[in-house]
Amino acid sequence: MKRIAVLASGRGSNFQAIIDRIEDGNLPAQCAGLVTDNPQAYAITRAKRAEIPVFVVDYSRYADKGEYEAALLEAMDQCNADLFILAGYMRILGRGIVSHFKGRMINIHPALLPSFAGLHAQRQAIDYGVKYSGCTVHFVDEGMDTGPIIIQRPVPVCDGDDGDSLAARILIEEHIALPEAVKLFCEERLMVCGRTVRILPP
Ligand code: GRF
Repeated sequence: MKRIAVLASGRGSNFQAIIDRIEDGNLPAQCAGLVTDNPQAYAITRAKRAEIPVFVVDYSRYADKGEYEAALLEAMDQCNADLFILAGYMRILGRGIVSHFKGRMINIHPALLPSFAGLHAQRQAIDYGVKYSGCTVHFVDEGMDTGPIIIQRPVPVCDGDDGDSLAARILIEEHIALPEAVKLFCEERLMVCGRTVRILPP
């Protein structure tokens, strides 16, 4: 069975979706750890409840980004994971960590990439006036939300939506897309060919 680990900074509802799919038998994986930069993250409570090891690397306790990322990498390596999942990690990872986990790190983003990369993707979608947005699970590369796309789920933008109401509608789909992508990885059904990710039959 594959070992997976999660890097998250906050609420951790996507982390919870993964825990739930493991517990209900729909995700054949072992969750080896939660790593967080935020000692207040609610994700920590979720991990403890599920008896998942927690590694806190408190960003505010390091002199600079270099020192912080060295400690972060050490914590991530301790998980000994086949796959690292960024689920609401609110910092940009340095190149060292990205290349260390190349091909075995994925991210969930609340927009249909390549539209609306970066922060506040749901509000960006509202401000632009698109009729559909959604979520994307993708491999992580050196760019910001630019890696090869595994799964996307579209979501309509409704009259009167604001960033929050659209975010809530997208989040429902995130909780489906992320465990699905993790499952495909664990079943070794993802083949990356340049920018394209082929999904192999079971
Ligand atoms: C999600 O919208 C995710 O797409 C984005 O950050 C948010 C994290 O939410 N990267 P949660 O912590 O999983 O509830």
